[in-house]
Amino acid sequence: MPSYVDSLENVRPEHLAGFFVGWPDPPSPQTHLQLLRGSSAFVLALDGEQVVGFVTAVSDGVLCAYLPLLEVLPSHQGQGIGQELVRRILARLRALYMVDLMCDPPLQPFYEKLGMRRASGMILRDYARQSGA
Ligand SMILES: CC(C)(COP(=O)(O)OP(=O)(O)OC[C@H]1O[C@@H](n2cnc3c(N)ncnc32)[C@H](O)[C@@H]1OP(=O)(O)O)[C@@H](O)C(=O)NCCC(=O)NCCS
Repeated sequence: MPSYVDSLENVRPEHLAGFFVGWPDPPSPQTHLQLLRGSSAFVLALDGEQVVGFVTAVSDGVLCAYLPLLEVLPSHQGQGIGQELVRRILARLRALYMVDLMCDPPLQPFYEKLGMRRASGMILRDYARQSGA
């Protein structure tokens, strides 16, 4: 079973290898560490020192939060880690009025089981900036 932490103590870039599967121009592990530092809240799932899953939140700290990123390494998927990460970040954000995220339709049942409901949304992407470099 992984352990769950909300600190970057002892987390180095090499512990963040393997994420952003399928992204054409993924952030490097160094950039991944930087975006975790810049998030309002995050939860990591650890297998030893290796990060095997993470979720991030950005928030105004008053009413609203958005969950931009959730990912579990393919080797660790299907073991309840994704659900536990979302449960823990929602618990961290429970004082807020609204918590939103975007996902593809096949993932909507996953989030419904965690108490969220379906909505429509709008997005803007600049793929030239996908790596964050
Ligand atoms: C989505 C993700 C985080 C789930 O993590 P996980 O640890 O494998 O999930 P859990 O083991 O906690 O939960 C498994 C449940 O989620 C469902 N699920 C997982 N990935 C899914 C997907 N891509 N499409 C539809 N359902 C999915 C499973 O069917 C399973 O449902 P069940 O409990 O009814 O059997 C993981 O598949 C992942 O990292 N995917 C790639 C990145 C991604 O899509 N992130 C979400 C962006 S909104």
